[in-house]
Amino acid sequence: MSLDEKLALLHGFVAMPVGGVGPPPQALGGAGYIPGNPRLHLPALYETDAGLGVANPDDIRPHDQATALPSGLALASTFDAGLNRRAGAMVGREAASRGFNIVLGGGSDLIRDPRSGRSFEYVSEDPLLTGLLSGAQIAGVQSNDVISTIKHFALNDQESGVFDMDARIGERAMRESDLLAFEIAIETGRPGAVMCAYNLVNGTPACQDGFLLERVLKHDWHYPGFVMSDWGAVHSTVPAVLAGLDQESGEQYDKQIFFGAPLKRAVLDHRLPLWRIDEMARRILRSEIALGVGDPPRGTEPAAGVRSDLALARMAATQGAVLLRNRNEVLPIRPGAQRIVLIGGHADGGVITGGGSPQVTPVGGLLRTADPPRNYPGPVFYDRSAPLPALRAADPGATISYDDGRDPARAALSAGVADLAIVFATQWSIEGLDQPSLSLPDRQDALIEAVARANPRTIVVLETAGPVSMPWLDRVGAVLEVWYPGNEGGPAIADLLTGRVGPGGRLPVTFPRSLAQLPRPVIPGQRSHPTVPLTEIPKPAPFDVDYAIEGADVGYRWFSRQKIAPLFPFGFGLSYTRFSLSNLRLTGSGTRRTVTFDVRNNGARPGRDIPQLYADLPDGSGHPARRLLGWANALLAPGQTAHLRIDIDPRLLARYDLTEHGWRIDAGPITLLLAENATRPLLKADMVLVGATLPP
Ligand code: BGC
Repeated sequence: MSLDEKLALLHGFVAMPVGGVGPPPQALGGAGYIPGNPRLHLPALYETDAGLGVANPDDIRPHDQATALPSGLALASTFDAGLNRRAGAMVGREAASRGFNIVLGGGSDLIRDPRSGRSFEYVSEDPLLTGLLSGAQIAGVQSNDVISTIKHFALNDQESGVFDMDARIGERAMRESDLLAFEIAIETGRPGAVMCAYNLVNGTPACQDGFLLERVLKHDWHYPGFVMSDWGAVHSTVPAVLAGLDQESGEQYDKQIFFGAPLKRAVLDHRLPLWRIDEMARRILRSEIALGVGDPPRGTEPAAGVRSDLALARMAATQGAVLLRNRNEVLPIRPGAQRIVLIGGHADGGVITGGGSPQVTPVGGLLRTADPPRNYPGPVFYDRSAPLPALRAADPGATISYDDGRDPARAALSAGVADLAIVFATQWSIEGLDQPSLSLPDRQDALIEAVARANPRTIVVLETAGPVSMPWLDRVGAVLEVWYPGNEGGPAIADLLTGRVGPGGRLPVTFPRSLAQLPRPVIPGQRSHPTVPLTEIPKPAPFDVDYAIEGADVGYRWFSRQKIAPLFPFGFGLSYTRFSLSNLRLTGSGTRRTVTFDVRNNGARPGRDIPQLYADLPDGSGHPARRLLGWANALLAPGQTAHLRIDIDPRLLARYDLTEHGWRIDAGPITLLLAENATRPLLKADMVLVGATLPP
């Protein structure tokens, strides 16, 4: 390859016009485009966002409809790697059938803050759960001759001031938390590309951070793929190249095309070695070849494929729903002649979606609402999959009416004369903004209070991006968290409410009682006027976000270290049946240990149990923090028993040792906890750790 041919691989367009500069006409409308090389038969790279389905904004890909999966937290609540792999495979297939060969999915940043504006694209607050499920999605995507991209490397854990925030955290804490999530996801899914983040880490922009890109990713983890920048995240040529960035994405967003003419000049002036250019090109081509990009396309999906994709979206939405409260078994609804009123949340029109780059126009289309914010950063879109008609179809004997919930007094009147009231509460979220608080927006708490006061048989269906507070919790009958349930949200909610399918999910994030319980009650850099477009406000000065406060103890680990009780703990979820655990045994030796146990369904309905294994590891600070070591997942018929096993990843028993540059297990006794959730151990087993350094 000539120098120019190599350089041409190293930067690419936003695949839509930006400031009057568009990509070449052969680009597919989407996130990015890098021209191919006909002389060498190298395919062009067509990049699409596709965290939760193939993103297809109407102005860019008019008339395209793709299957919208439920949000990242719904997929995570399944604790089901197989299902996450199938979800990824669906996304990869739908991307490939539209001609894309790079998927920008795989959001793997930890949810350090329940208000994080992108949590609906991410997985969880735990590194093991995030790593294994994100890795499964990536592997699924890549089963289609498509490259998957894991993002945003690293510590893009809040949206407020994301371009200017400097995540301050020590190496050990970083290795044991956010980096561990990426490490496990990368070894599980082997993504062809890694996207570096907008934010700074310990003073350096993530896309020119030699510690993250060269040292950790490429050296310590032996990562063979390439690093692409986030869109507008490149700030230099020589420093970025030397730090390990291989490709500049979305170049119209950068101040200049740093990896264009300036890169060639730097090579010709010997400010950059040629071997590094070779390496950058080789890494990109290696991923293309390893994943079959450029092989003859497999052909487009027949219509039946779409039906099975919708069935998968529906299954994921039910399996990922978390039942948080169910007093007097108000759920499932007994079918038959009764009056039910559905209230609020546009339940007659659809289910809410998250905004920003992952926005999917679903099969059936989007419903544009007049809800605030109507202008930037809105509008707020709903997937046209409405709970009202779905529930009417699922429970034809009932008389089901709808009240839009705008007037709480009127809604309370309808609830008072009904046998059952179901309130749909929504929380919208979009890339670029964090939630202002934990409260449901638009006075929905007052609506729920009013309805619950009129009818104690009130069920709240939460369609939220992440955790919310519930001041009315003790006055309602049931709470079902369905997150953003996606393309088949309506029928999935009807399945759950009527008990056709039992809710199977467990929380992948802690629901705090109040902001005061969090490491940072106030989000650093949060804007007080989020409705003013970013381009119209003065750029904030760079500011620190002190992640050393909680360090590696994110989420439930923080709550256990601080000895505070959340509203709902990580791993929590009820069921329409009851389970019991027995026969906990520890086997194996050295650093390879396994636990086995039995779980039995003692109730009268089928149901899914997700027993979790934790340990409290002494860390020398006198504040042992709980860690998830693994989990098992079983769907059981009434009376059925399953024998389950959990293999323990030894890194979860270790600490990252900065002098040995590796994982070190300290000798000593620990107690393994087989638990219902992060705060409710049911069985215990003693274990003696043998001191060991884990092989790299
Ligand atoms: C987001 C990325 C996304 C990219 C391309 C950026 O603003 O942070 O997650 O993949 O845009 O659309």
